[in-house]
Amino acid sequence: MSAAREHFSSKLGFILAAAGSAVGIGNLVGFPVSATKNGGGAFLVIYALFVIFVCIPVMMAEMAMGRSAQKDPLGAYNKLSNNHAGWRIPGFLAVLTPFMIAVFYMVITVWIFGYLFQAGIGNLDQLANPNNFGQFINQQTVFLYMIGVAVIVNLILLGGVKQGIEKAAKFLMPALFVMLIGLVIYVLTLDNAMAGVRYYVVPDFSKLNASVLNGALSQAFFSLSLGMGILMTYASYISRKENIVGSAKMIAVTDSLVAFVAGLMVLPAIFSFNPETDPANLKESSVNMIFVYLPQIFLAMQENIGYTGASVVAFIFFLLVFFAAITSLVSIIEVPTATLIEEKNVSRKVALLILAGAMGVLTILCTLSFGMVDYLTTMFNYGGGSKSLFDLVYDVFYDTILPLNGLMVCLFVMYRWRKIKLTDELSQGCEGYRGSLTEKYVNFSLSTFIPVILLIIFINTVATKFFSASLFGF
Ligand code: PHE
Repeated sequence: MSAAREHFSSKLGFILAAAGSAVGIGNLVGFPVSATKNGGGAFLVIYALFVIFVCIPVMMAEMAMGRSAQKDPLGAYNKLSNNHAGWRIPGFLAVLTPFMIAVFYMVITVWIFGYLFQAGIGNLDQLANPNNFGQFINQQTVFLYMIGVAVIVNLILLGGVKQGIEKAAKFLMPALFVMLIGLVIYVLTLDNAMAGVRYYVVPDFSKLNASVLNGALSQAFFSLSLGMGILMTYASYISRKENIVGSAKMIAVTDSLVAFVAGLMVLPAIFSFNPETDPANLKESSVNMIFVYLPQIFLAMQENIGYTGASVVAFIFFLLVFFAAITSLVSIIEVPTATLIEEKNVSRKVALLILAGAMGVLTILCTLSFGMVDYLTTMFNYGGGSKSLFDLVYDVFYDTILPLNGLMVCLFVMYRWRKIKLTDELSQGCEGYRGSLTEKYVNFSLSTFIPVILLIIFINTVATKFFSASLFGF
């Protein structure tokens, strides 16, 4: 490549951008609800163990590949394998996956933007109507919100690494932390708040079983943006002076901390709204929680703080989720952007235009698949029922393919690129790494049990999602 590769201007910029990618819708609502349903503190402990012992090594491997190659994922697999044809497939998957996840994530971000706007103009009462969401997603106004989100995301991406991604993260992430803490403090003062906290943190080990463990690991993998090519791409924008080992830990801690703290916002709110809530009945789906259940809770707050106060709380909540979603969306679109720029030698502007076109079409088709167009709504049939185009994208790319991509990273790094190279790369910027316990653990785990675990999760997810069967017997 002729021009020097653009890099993040500082370690903080890189960490905030990567943490911005990791902190997303999954952290703010999905994590707290699955923790509460699946054993509270017991789930939290298991989750932390998975993050430390499984996810962080995979994260380091992804980042090492990206930084060593100084390329997008497709280019990294090619370069580090000396253009071995077999490794083009994982490289291709590492680009296709973020492209498709971006489509799906865009759809949800558009809804969040719509709810943010509606809360802002004083329509919380309407948002709180349980039938609102079903109507909202099938109204043509969603296309206006879509344009709004596309403009914001593309403006950030157009700025490039320093002026776009890094600058946005430096503003959005601190703002997100402040809003989160503010909401937690407010919610903890509500009646019955402690009942929610209790369900969230008191461990119930009897709830743990194989499928909960599978769910916890999938959640951790997803939440840390692993298997999406994102960390590989972002790490290609840092220099050998930076410490990958330390950065990986910081990103994982930030992401997990935000997920944990989000629980202190969501659960007290749920239990103060309805102290009789049975955690078993909470719906696992983040979408239902964000767009149907939580608006009712916000509206109920008007008893204490009036309609305007309740609207402000709802607005801040949606702004928080929106910021989290935007930094994730930016990171995921950056992967195919980088690939187009490097592999096809086009400018950033052209790459973004091509992607806006391709993703735009798919996003519109997905948006039409909630009922607006019958054919798209019942396009597929698997896993015991008819599924929409959106369902398929979600099931394949969000749920199923990440562990497979993670598995490829482990196999590639350990058996093609080799341990020596990984250690060399990770030692750059982290002097004590070579010979440390961490090095021994990373090399051992990535070459043995982590790929096995990821393979089992992949097979089990395929079995449950597409064949209504489970390796674990339920
Ligand atoms: N970690 C993100 C989340 O929790 C997942 C994600 C990252 C999704 C990037 C899309 C793009 O929501």
